[in-house]
Amino acid sequence: MFINTIMGWFSNDMAIDLGTANTVVFVKGRGIVCNEPSVVAIATKTGKVIAVGTEAKRMLGRTPGDIQTIRPIKDGVISNFDVTGEMLRHFIQRVHNRKTFIRPRIIIGVPSGITQVEQRAVKDAALSSGGREVYLIEEPVAAAVGTGLPISEPSGNMIVDIGGGTTDVAVISMDGVVYSRAIRVGGDKMDEAIINYIKRKYNLLIGEMMAEQIKLDLGSAYKLDANRQTMEIKGRDLVSGIPKTLILDDDEVREALAEPVGQILNAIKAALENTPPELAADIVDKGIVLCGGGALLKGLDVFLREETSLPIIIAEDPLTCVVLGAGKLLDDLDVLKKVVM
Ligand SMILES: Nc1ncnc2c1ncn2[C@@H]1O[C@H](COP(=O)(O)OP(=O)(O)OP(=O)(O)O)[C@@H](O)[C@H]1O
Ligand SMILES: [Mg+2]
Repeated sequence: MFINTIMGWFSNDMAIDLGTANTVVFVKGRGIVCNEPSVVAIATKTGKVIAVGTEAKRMLGRTPGDIQTIRPIKDGVISNFDVTGEMLRHFIQRVHNRKTFIRPRIIIGVPSGITQVEQRAVKDAALSSGGREVYLIEEPVAAAVGTGLPISEPSGNMIVDIGGGTTDVAVISMDGVVYSRAIRVGGDKMDEAIINYIKRKYNLLIGEMMAEQIKLDLGSAYKLDANRQTMEIKGRDLVSGIPKTLILDDDEVREALAEPVGQILNAIKAALENTPPELAADIVDKGIVLCGGGALLKGLDVFLREETSLPIIIAEDPLTCVVLGAGKLLDDLDVLKKVVM
């Protein structure tokens, strides 16, 4: 234990969750050192990076013409290689302690559907930022390790990672992925559904940030509280073109979220149908573990429990279990070698 602590001071080994919504960096011996939105602001003329992370997210939808804010990973796919590389490099260099001359080993959790070319791009960016060895692992595997599921045992574990861009449903047994499917529905689609609902019902256009705030404050998948909850929202009236305020309630937001939530349920049902019977029996006993920011949507666990009749467990740290799992694998090279992409 003591030796490990001392070793941690010298090595900079890192684990990174390269998410659609958030990038989280863990450094061995130090814990989580960076947790910021995956957003980059760029000067359109020169292509120069102006801001990354929290600072760039504050500019979303508020930039003048010569600055562009980009979310380089959309729907779980890397839509802009160069900017993703820049962002990764920025986060690594920010936490990389250059005083130590040992170059870090880096484990990166990536969306499970990414192509070979995308994998190469992520690896190159990490290597050029000072990484000595770079390993890519699938996010659901990292999440399962992070939540402490016994993935090495011959027993089925189902994990559902509801991120910003995708929902990954995976069944893992004996350090391998038995089934995995990702759908392009997650927190972003929920925000979009709220925007569209308000546009249809009230002719009011709201921004992405406002939509996310509504989801966090008022959103739910199941009516838990009999009292009506409301919130004041602001946007632009599509008819008059003038900014307007109105009151929205929780029933309306639940109605807006019904479609993306239903799609998540269908993905889980499809996974259950495609799971070999022995493993399915394990899942009946152990239940389904939810992680990712979407797992925090109010009442989602209750809704899924009702629809599937299975135990539903929300991971202890839904937003950080991918990076914590990848971090644990820094210490467990045997398992790492089995799960690396
Ligand atoms: N309390 C909450 N209720 C509902 N949604 C939430 C809550 N907290 C965070 N979220 C949503 O979770 C999403 C971010 O989750 P997370 O950080 O797990 O995604 P990610 O790992 O970046 O994305 P992906 O795994 O798809 O690449 C955002 O859409 C955010 O709005
Ligand atoms: Mg994620």
